[in-house]
Amino acid sequence: MEKIFIVGGTPLTGEIEIGGSKNDTLAIMAATLLVPGVTLLRNVPRNSDVLNLLEIFRHIGVHAQWRSDNCLAIDASTVKTTEAPLELVQKMRASFNILGALLTRFGTAAVAMPGGCDIGARPVNFHVRGLEQLGAVMTLEHGVYQGEVKRMTGTHIALDFPSAGATQHLMIAASLAKGRTVIENCAAEPEIVNLADFLNACGADITGAGTAFITINGVEKLNPCEFRVLPDRLQVGTYALAAAITGGDVMIRNAVYDHCRPVMMKLEEAGFLVLREGNNIRVKTTQPKINPVHIRTSPHPGFPTDMQQVFAALLTLADGVSTVTETVYESRFRYTTELQKLGAEINVEGRTAIITGVKRLSGANVSCTDLRGGAALIIAGLAADGLTQVDELRHLDRGYDEMVSKLTGLGAHIERGTDRISAGGLRVCSV
Ligand code: EPZ
Repeated sequence: MEKIFIVGGTPLTGEIEIGGSKNDTLAIMAATLLVPGVTLLRNVPRNSDVLNLLEIFRHIGVHAQWRSDNCLAIDASTVKTTEAPLELVQKMRASFNILGALLTRFGTAAVAMPGGCDIGARPVNFHVRGLEQLGAVMTLEHGVYQGEVKRMTGTHIALDFPSAGATQHLMIAASLAKGRTVIENCAAEPEIVNLADFLNACGADITGAGTAFITINGVEKLNPCEFRVLPDRLQVGTYALAAAITGGDVMIRNAVYDHCRPVMMKLEEAGFLVLREGNNIRVKTTQPKINPVHIRTSPHPGFPTDMQQVFAALLTLADGVSTVTETVYESRFRYTTELQKLGAEINVEGRTAIITGVKRLSGANVSCTDLRGGAALIIAGLAADGLTQVDELRHLDRGYDEMVSKLTGLGAHIERGTDRISAGGLRVCSV
């Protein structure tokens, strides 16, 4: 089994460049299924979720080709089937959005209930209800949703919760519907705005993205375009916290500050200097202690749920008691038991983790519980005394490409291998 080996204690310094956003890429890739012709996407990350979605595309007969390391050409002129392979769909969450894309374009589609991080029940009822409101007849047989519709018809959809995935899914489905669709109480994440920009670049007619009301005037056809995926705001937050927990000073290039504001403001509250320099963010340690802070996640523009786990790792070393309250998912604290193996003092009560800062963490063997929980363990390992071994890396690989090389470039003692010997003979302090 592959592991990541970290010997903590080195302040990270230098600069790194942030790559494309997993979540932005996956939504836009689903939307490319609406477009006959070759769409060119730039700044596409090569993580396992993107590669898995490409496998699904190949299975349904969509041709995709890497034109360079991060430039992807997708030709959805035709498909050979509108039935997505169950075992691939179940590996991730965002694959579900291809259901609405295939349905609105071809009138029929079958996609399994999706997988994704084990952070709660994560039903898809908002997605399915919205597709039904657009006129689709939806049935669920053996875990696979089958949809049929002659042509989707615009309507008024009010979401019970500003679900990012449901908003993206229904924007895609409504783009080729007959007439106007309004999605009320929709999500407003930067990825929602970028998806609207992509669809409009292909000839859609979408307004209001980034607010609670999105209006989609359906069109007959969309055309190929060239488009750039957003920088990954969650990777920006992750590497900012890596700099902070190690007492370092790191320049993060290709970071859109406005997409990361809540995390950066909390980092300042924790006592770090955060400098915004154009499309770069510098995180600098200026005091010996980490201030305890209180975090409450909420949909954008609130503090992102995807950053609570990584921020909690920093707070394990704060000078006092912090709290992290998770309002979006019902069980996103599984990682805390792994942080406790490193010496963290965390007590989870319902939707709140109470974190009592300790003087030091000490390296141990830990396992990723999910994508961002895994990132939290890496961050903690960078500060822990001695050797930390992290396994179950498949979770991490879904959303962090080149993490070890990025951290190595900042001075971290980190290797990836099947055992300590083959991990490049990492210098290991006495543990
Ligand atoms: C997207 O997931 C992201 N994933 C998640 O990031 C992120 O945590 C989430 O949005 C919130 O920002 C991708 O973009 C691939 P939701 P999504 O629909 O769309 C409930 C990461 O770490 N809900 O906004 O699945 C749901 O259970 C991942 O990169 C329903 O009840 O999130 C959750 O409690 C993790 N019914 C809440 O809404 C539905 O039909 C928010 O979910 C849909 C959602």
